[in-house]
Amino acid sequence: MDRPAGIVFDAYGTLLDVASVAADCEERWPGRGAALTMLWRERQLQYSWLRSLMGRHTDFWQVTSDALDFACAALGLGLTPADREALLAVYLRLTPFPEVVSALGRLTDFRRLVLSNGTPDMLRAGLEHAGLADQLEAILSVESVGVFKPAPQVYALATAHLGCAPADILFVSSNGWDIAGAASFGLRTAWLNRAGAPAERLGLAPEIIVPDLAALADVIMA
Ligand code: LAC
Repeated sequence: MDRPAGIVFDAYGTLLDVASVAADCEERWPGRGAALTMLWRERQLQYSWLRSLMGRHTDFWQVTSDALDFACAALGLGLTPADREALLAVYLRLTPFPEVVSALGRLTDFRRLVLSNGTPDMLRAGLEHAGLADQLEAILSVESVGVFKPAPQVYALATAHLGCAPADILFVSSNGWDIAGAASFGLRTAWLNRAGAPAERLGLAPEIIVPDLAALADVIMA
């Protein structure tokens, strides 16, 4: 493949496993951990899109907290302030997917960045805890533009930082809708289809589709 000027990674679901909250959810509400984990993430993303459409931005920490409140209410799970605080804190120490540390380490020839909906504090804490921060030239947060993905202003943070055209950047995400947003802005895209999901029907196909970051490193280094 043509060498990109930089590789830009999504964080949540791509490098960091948001399902790491499941064990803590399950411990509090036996038998309901998986359902809560799924609904919490779904609502977190929906609130990010809805707030962006309404022009009512609040940061991803608040969105994540609001989504947890909704998910617990919808599932009939009593959430105490202490539970909320403890579950949100898991977001600061999510587990990286197993191949991520070594695969990122194979890409040291490239400028590597994160571009995420997370707040600067959440991202710094999470990526440091996962042992990934040292491998990254920069951690770009949507907070500097006050709108969430897939708004084009967000992907423009990557071109501004790298000082290049969109087509010189490879954007990597396991979120199909995020890949579509990046492609719509003009970035090259690699979709880590971790879940074996069907392709999004948004008229914007990824350039590369691989199951995980190790497979992507193989493609890039071939
Ligand atoms: C992020 C969301 C897409 O990290 O998970 O930006």
